[in-house]
Amino acid sequence: MSSKVLILRTLKLDDEAAFLRGYEAWQGDDPNWHSFEWKPGMNFGEHLENLQRQARGEGLVPGRVASTMWYGFVGEEIVGRLHLRHALNESLRRRGGHIGYAVAPPFRRGGWAHEMLRQALPMAFAIVGDDLLITCASDNTASRRVIERVGGQLENEIWDEVDEEMICRYWVRRK
Ligand SMILES: CC(C)(COP(=O)(O)OP(=O)(O)OC[C@H]1O[C@@H](n2cnc3c(N)ncnc32)[C@H](O)[C@@H]1OP(=O)(O)O)[C@@H](O)C(=O)NCCC(=O)NCCS
Repeated sequence: MSSKVLILRTLKLDDEAAFLRGYEAWQGDDPNWHSFEWKPGMNFGEHLENLQRQARGEGLVPGRVASTMWYGFVGEEIVGRLHLRHALNESLRRRGGHIGYAVAPPFRRGGWAHEMLRQALPMAFAIVGDDLLITCASDNTASRRVIERVGGQLENEIWDEVDEEMICRYWVRRK
């Protein structure tokens, strides 16, 4: 892993420039990985308020649970993000899991996904409880490795009818 330090935290108002650079880092790939809701031209402050409401579980879209979005900062740059669902609904229990993460293409293979998950686990256990479900496509070697490195135990592989692919369902338990 890089000798640089990653800080995993929620966004602040003065992170706008870093957030926009982070969005640009996804060009040529799917920028929805950077943010589910923010699109170019949207107001950053309003976006932060929306994220804060989601973390408090206020005004949720039907079918969504409370969630927290953390971004991984290395120096001034956002290298990736990690999304924690505070509880499981039926869909999350089957296919979505508690945690999803992504590292922007220019920053991959630097150990950042593992580092984000490692730092997120204590916060996630504090919010969710002792058992975290993390899922990924069966052929996503990098993501499987990230989950297994933090002790994820494979429960099963199932067919995901939404993305039409086999997925692995892992549990990470508080030690
Ligand atoms: C999956 C993803 C998060 C990995 O991020 P990353 O920062 O490159 O991962 P890391 O550098 O922490 O690598 C994790 C492990 O996977 C391995 N790895 C990384 N990329 C790989 C690849 N393309 N093929 C095979 N192994 C790979 C690394 O060598 C490392 O293994 P190690 O622990 O034995 O050293 C990133 O590729 C991504 O954002 N993909 C798109 C979104 C996604 O799939 N998210 C996961 C769904 S929940």
